[in-house]
Amino acid sequence: MQGKRIVIGITGGIAAFKAASLVSQLVQRGAEVRVIMTQSATQFITPLTFQTLSRNHVFTDTFEERNPKVVSHIDLADHADLFVIAPATANIISKIAHGLADDMLTTTVLATEAPVCFAPAMNVHMYQNVIIQENINRLQSLGYHLIEPGEGQLACGYVGRGRMAEPEVILEWIEWYFQKKACLTGKKILVTAGPTIEPIDPVRYFSNHSSGKMGYAIAEAAEKAGADVTLISGPVAIRPPARVKRIEVKRAIEMREAVMGCLSEMDIIVKTAAVADYRPRNVFDQKIKKDQETLTVELEKNPDIAMEIGKQKRRDQFFVGFAAETENVENYAREKLAKKGMDLIVANQVSIPGIGFGSDQNQVVIYDAEGEVCRLPKMDKKSIAAQIISLIGERMNDC
Ligand code: CTP
Repeated sequence: MQGKRIVIGITGGIAAFKAASLVSQLVQRGAEVRVIMTQSATQFITPLTFQTLSRNHVFTDTFEERNPKVVSHIDLADHADLFVIAPATANIISKIAHGLADDMLTTTVLATEAPVCFAPAMNVHMYQNVIIQENINRLQSLGYHLIEPGEGQLACGYVGRGRMAEPEVILEWIEWYFQKKACLTGKKILVTAGPTIEPIDPVRYFSNHSSGKMGYAIAEAAEKAGADVTLISGPVAIRPPARVKRIEVKRAIEMREAVMGCLSEMDIIVKTAAVADYRPRNVFDQKIKKDQETLTVELEKNPDIAMEIGKQKRRDQFFVGFAAETENVENYAREKLAKKGMDLIVANQVSIPGIGFGSDQNQVVIYDAEGEVCRLPKMDKKSIAAQIISLIGERMNDC
C-alpha cells in the first residue's frame, strides 16, 4: 500500500461514517489518500473529518480550483492508482453507468483511466431494483469493480442486502487488488502487436486491419503488473506505453528476426500481432505501371512465428497466442493452441461489428489445453488486457 495514490469517493449515505475508518487505515498503511465528497455526503459527515484523516484537502466542488496550474478533476483523475467509491449510492452507480458528469466526483471518475471500485450501500429494495442491478451489470461489463454489500440490519429499518462492506473488507480487497496487479514483478514479457506489411513495389503493400490496440493494451497492463516489457510492433498509429521498450518492424520476416533474437531471455510471450501469412514472391524495384488489364502477384508463405516459438520454448516459458476467426471460433482456436504449443489462446470473432479490428472493444474466449478457461463479455481492450495479464500471473505463480 506504501505510496499508492488512492482516491476515495464518498456519496450521500449513512455508511459515509464508515469511510472515515477506511481512510484512516489506508493512511496508516502508507497510502496517499485523496477524498472527493458529493454534496449529499457532506450532510452525513464533514469534509474536515476527511481532511484531518487524509492530511489532504477534500474536494467537494468541481469549480473550486485551488491550484491555477492544474485542473483539479483531471489532475486527480490522472494521478490515481485506484478509485474506491464507498459508500456508493444508487445515484452514483446509475450516473457513472450512463456517463453523467455533474459534480466533482462524477467528472473525476469519468476522466480517470485508473481502476474504479464501487462499494454500494442502500436499502435492500433499492439494491434489488432491476434498474440498479442492470446498471451494476453494465459497470462490471465495462471493467468497473464491485465489492458486494453485506446482509443485515439496515439503517432504514429493513433487514437484507444493502449494508456497505465493512472498512476491513474493503481494505482487504484493495490489498488483494494491488498484490494481484503486481503479479508479474521481475518477469520479462515479450508482446507482439499490430499488423505486418508486405511490400509489392516501392509504393504498395499487402497488410490487414490490425490497429495494434489489443497488443499495446497488453503491453501496458503487463508494465503495470510489474513486468519488464519488450513490445515488437508492426506499423501502427499508437504511442508506446511509458517504460515499455518498443522495437518497430514492418515485414513478418523482420518480426520473426526480432522475436527470435530475444526469445530465450523471456519468461512470457504474448503473440497479439496479426502477422501476414503470405508475402509477394518478388518485390518490384520500381512502381508497377497500370499497363496490363489484370495483374497477378504471386505470394509465398511467411514463417509462422508462433509455431517456431512453440517448438523452441522452454518449459518455464509461458506462451499466449491469439486467434482471429470469422467462423468456428472454438475449433480453430483450440487447433492453433495445440499445433503451436501455446499455454493459452485468446480467441475472438473478428466478423462481429463493433468489436475486434480497429475498435476499442473486444469480446473474447480464452482456452487452454483442457478447454474453455473463461469467456469475457464485450468490454474495452484495456480491461480485457488486464484480465489476460492477471490470468497469466495466476498461471505463472502456480507453476
Ligand atoms: N502467427 C504468427 N505468424 C504467422 C501467423 C500467425 O506468429 N505467420 C500467430 C499470431 O500472432 C497469433 C496466432 O499465430 O498469435 C494465430 O494467428 P491467426 O492469424 O489467427 O492464425 P494463423 O495461424 O495465421 O492461421 P489462419 O490464417 O489459417 O487462421
